[in-house]
Amino acid sequence: MSAVKVSGKNKLYGNIKIQGCKNAVLPIIAASLLNGGENIIHNCPYLADVIASIKILEELGASAVFDGNTLVIDSSGISCRRVEPALMKSLRSSVVFLGPVLSRCGKAAVSMPGGCDIGKRPIDIHLTSFERMGVDVECAGDEVTCAVNKLHGERIVLPFPSVGATENIMLLAALGRGVTTIHNAAREPEIVDLQNFLNSMGARVFGAGTGNITIYAVDKLTDSEYTVMTDRIEAATFACAVAAAGGELYMEGIKPGYIRTVTNILKNSGAAVAEYPDSVYVGAPSQISCPQLVSTGPYPGFPTDAQSLLMSVMSCSKGSGVIRENIFENRFGHAQELRRLGADIIIDGRSAYVRGAALTGGQVTARDLRSGAALVVAALAAEGETTVEKAVYIDRGYDDLVGKLGSLGASIERVN
Ligand code: UD1
Repeated sequence: MSAVKVSGKNKLYGNIKIQGCKNAVLPIIAASLLNGGENIIHNCPYLADVIASIKILEELGASAVFDGNTLVIDSSGISCRRVEPALMKSLRSSVVFLGPVLSRCGKAAVSMPGGCDIGKRPIDIHLTSFERMGVDVECAGDEVTCAVNKLHGERIVLPFPSVGATENIMLLAALGRGVTTIHNAAREPEIVDLQNFLNSMGARVFGAGTGNITIYAVDKLTDSEYTVMTDRIEAATFACAVAAAGGELYMEGIKPGYIRTVTNILKNSGAAVAEYPDSVYVGAPSQISCPQLVSTGPYPGFPTDAQSLLMSVMSCSKGSGVIRENIFENRFGHAQELRRLGADIIIDGRSAYVRGAALTGGQVTARDLRSGAALVVAALAAEGETTVEKAVYIDRGYDDLVGKLGSLGASIERVN
């Protein structure tokens, strides 16, 4: 079992280059099945979830080669074989393979997707949208079987701006015939990145970044070369790390607008924030104040993925505040672990009441990807030594978090 060991109370100073975006590249990898050709994807982060996605591609008969941060995918020989359920269950984002596999193969069977255990995470919005577009859907146990009956363009109004469902509809509608419109679509920057990638293959997708997306289906897609956007949640992680541990940090390669909901909260809590066209500076005050209320919401709201990170900052701040989690019903597992480090947190349904405290080192366990990162952030601010167990969760979304924090002056190491 792998763990991260941190000796807290070292301030962080320096520059960090933000990695390519996990939540953008996973649907882009799935989209690479659509053109039946070569896709050169630059700025691809080397992550466990990316490796799992590559394994799914390989099971389907495509090939993928990593060269530095460039991933070259050849989907010309896909075989439409059924993917091992255990592999599909290993990551939540495997659900975005449904759209492309249906599009290329006419049928797809998946087990209910796995991934980090942060609530029920159903896929009913994906499936009812597919049905409206002419797909027959059958569910038996945790198996979902989809078969294209007569694929056609459709007007789809989402009951919630689901990121995954918006992506899956775009992926299914890109090839074939007809015009599909998505209303109340997710507006996350990662949706814009998927649109840009699809259009780099010759697709005709418009409106991503707004609540209304239009997809004009085309007959064929071409080879593509694309550079993935940078990871706003990795940037939020480093911003929170500095806010909690102290110090000064320049984050390079991140558009300030992507993380403004996070940096604005840090700024209002006493941090210095400066925005440049492609980088962001964060300077910590001697002790950060506790924001009074943070509510997660669909973009441009506060990202659910940064909720645990901000909880760590609040745990070692001065004052008290409330976090309201509006996206997932069960995303406070890290609170129990933070309490082991001395955090004062009370959970009541979807609300977490946090009072700033002096944290001390201890042994804690990651429950999911972002809770693991949040525990590392808290450990950086805690007096003494902390061990974060189940560090494999962190590997799902961070390309060398330990090495990067070490380069900024943290006393941190990976141990077995
Ligand atoms: C969500 C986040 C995304 C984040 C990702 C990884 C939002 C809106 N989405 O995306 O920013 O990067 O997790 O942590 O913040 N739901 C249904 N039925 C469905 C699909 C979703 O009820 O078919 C519900 C989910 O249970 C959840 C909410 O809608 O409560 C958000 O789902 P969705 O945006 O689809 O989740 P992800 O795509 O995983």
